[in-house]
Amino acid sequence: MNLKAEQKKKTEEINQILLDYLPKEGGREATLCAAMNYSVSVGGKRLRPMLLLESCKMFGGDVEAAKPFAAALEMIHTYSLVHDDLPAMDNDRYRRGQLTTHAKFGHAMGILAGDGLLNYAFEIMSEAVCVQGANAAKAMAILAKKAGVRGMIAGQTVDLELTGHATTTELLDYVNERKTAALLEASLMAGAALAGADEQTLSVLEQVGHFVGLAFQIKDDILDVTGDEAMLGKPLHSDEKNEKNTYVSLIGIERSNELVSEYSNRAVTLLESFEGPKEFLTKLLMSLAGREY
Ligand code: IPE
Ligand code: IPE
Ligand code: MG
Ligand code: MG
Ligand code: MG
Repeated sequence: MNLKAEQKKKTEEINQILLDYLPKEGGREATLCAAMNYSVSVGGKRLRPMLLLESCKMFGGDVEAAKPFAAALEMIHTYSLVHDDLPAMDNDRYRRGQLTTHAKFGHAMGILAGDGLLNYAFEIMSEAVCVQGANAAKAMAILAKKAGVRGMIAGQTVDLELTGHATTTELLDYVNERKTAALLEASLMAGAALAGADEQTLSVLEQVGHFVGLAFQIKDDILDVTGDEAMLGKPLHSDEKNEKNTYVSLIGIERSNELVSEYSNRAVTLLESFEGPKEFLTKLLMSLAGREY
């Protein structure tokens, strides 16, 4: 099977896991559940749960036990997108090829759907921890920390604070490391933690995720300028509209593209030190540099 077909199959498997874990709609809170389900179900590459499951497999873990964590991780990622698109943040109307959650359900429901997804993720993970024990607790702790106040939320905060101000590549790296790389690091680390990997292994995976994440955000910023809107499923020139500082605005497209390749190669080289099955994961990581959405 080629990479595209394999990726499609795995995406469909993850979509099924998400369907199994999303809240059933009903009761007085039906609109909240509908908005949560909408934002997750309209699409997305499912990269983070894919990395978690592949990392778990690479270290010989039980994929069945990893499913609640894969679902929770995509819920955390999706909540970050729902809030990122809000009028008070990037103010975007399209995401994953559809209206953003707040554009469809109203601003307040956009905020609540994000809150709901974040909380639901921790409900799902904590239930799994009660049943599975220490490895699961470690995975949840990793995800909590990387998505949290010193991780993704810190990155989003500084991203907003830098808006419209002159910046440096050091500050941009601070933002990109947190707003984007942190959750990709967590994906690889949590998958391995579920398989019982040791601290040394987790630390190498953190480095892999770090480089994948920096490359991923720079590529996202390039696509914001050079991408195809229909393919991307979100508006072009969102960064320019918001006076965002990006690698593209700071060093130009050409040099940014070089950095994407350089960081992707560093990630894959680090991955080589592991012996478990990693063919798909390696190909997937390499393909991200050339992605069109
Ligand atoms: C978008 O993430 C936000 C960034 C961190 C750049 P993705 O590009 O993974 O978005 P989906 O999940 O495929 O929609
Ligand atoms: C967002 O970065 C990263 C998040 C944590 C959501 P962007 O604001 O560039 O992401 P897009 O382009 O809207 O997907
Ligand atoms: Mg943003
Ligand atoms: Mg945005
Ligand atoms: Mg962007």
